[in-house]
Amino acid sequence: MQSLNDFVAGKLAVLDRSNLHRALAETERLDGVWVERGGRRLVSFCCNDYLSLSQHPSIKAAAIAAIERYGVGSGASRLVTGNHPLFGRLEAQLARLKGTAAACAFGSGYLANTGIIPALVGQDDLVLIDELSHACLWTGARLSRATVRPFHHSDAAEVEALLHVHRGRHPRALIATDGVFSMDGDLAPLPQLSALAKRYDAWLMTDDAHGLGVIGGGRGSSFAFSAPVEVPLQMGTLSKAIGGYGGYLCASDPVIDLIHNRARTFVYATGLPPAMVAAALAALGLIEREPGYAALPLTKARSFTRLTGLPEAQSPIVPLIVGKADAALAASRQLETEGILVTAIRPPTVPAGTARLRFTFTAAHPDSEIERLAALVRKMLARHLESATP
Ligand SMILES: Cc1ncc(COP(=O)(O)O)c(C=O)c1O
Repeated sequence: MQSLNDFVAGKLAVLDRSNLHRALAETERLDGVWVERGGRRLVSFCCNDYLSLSQHPSIKAAAIAAIERYGVGSGASRLVTGNHPLFGRLEAQLARLKGTAAACAFGSGYLANTGIIPALVGQDDLVLIDELSHACLWTGARLSRATVRPFHHSDAAEVEALLHVHRGRHPRALIATDGVFSMDGDLAPLPQLSALAKRYDAWLMTDDAHGLGVIGGGRGSSFAFSAPVEVPLQMGTLSKAIGGYGGYLCASDPVIDLIHNRARTFVYATGLPPAMVAAALAALGLIEREPGYAALPLTKARSFTRLTGLPEAQSPIVPLIVGKADAALAASRQLETEGILVTAIRPPTVPAGTARLRFTFTAAHPDSEIERLAALVRKMLARHLESATP
């Protein structure tokens, strides 16, 4: 259709003009850290496989054994014939780790968020959401048709003010936030949010995609403070530190029962393949047995922030905010010429004017590569300071 192609070409031209056109770059991941792109071997600092479990021999063996025994796919929605016995084991393990009564696995983290929120709140209700929350938390909030009120990043005082003014007008209220912010690496102020949630009878929900396995002794953001924080809705993904694919919600028994009945992305979607469930079970077992290994990504991120003078890392994610999209692209290209892969993150993934390099650290990064990266980043920062000096 000519009109379709013309319309799309116009949209793409706008993206091109603002350096926001993205393109897929074929990349072969050789192990947890090294990749091959364009015929070159690069060390990657932009992968969420924080513990390199996607490559771990015992986890691969668990997935292969599950494929050999049960086949590749799960065949149907879990409510029809796709509820493989492995799911019960995975959900029990997730619930134990997160300190909840129950859990529910989803096809992905994105599916989890877009299913959970509309199952719990609707048209009359209120959702308060951190402005920097992940796109799928936003999608879930919007799909719910509740009144969605964003609050400034990690601003618990603003949450209180919003609850004070608006809570009484809505039968139910949800406070939604990333536990670890995916593009900034900082932690949400969960102790304060939890206290407010209790005071105003609001339900606190965290997206802990980047917390599970790597902070709070591997148990995630609710466990990263001086005392465990009560978070009744702990969502996360199996695609980052767990190394596979899939999402989950840890919550009470009745909440999970309702999710089984009302979350459309659970009811009307095919269950995860048994191999992914088996891999996640093996990965969670490894994280529980080896807390020292699970702590390594944060230790490595902290050694990078120490070497570069950047604010101390709170998670394995460290941002270097560059500003304009073209400057972030140039910085990324420069690192690539040095054999280092760090993708530039541009709007709309991050707010306009805050394009950045987002470094992620894994247990397997050699210290020598972190030192080399830090030296290059120090040079970039020095050049930036020089050019900013009148
Ligand atoms: C904070 C956050 N939430 C949710 C997701 C989506 O999870 P999934 O990739 O499992 O769909 C991601 C990343 O992809 C994420 O970074």
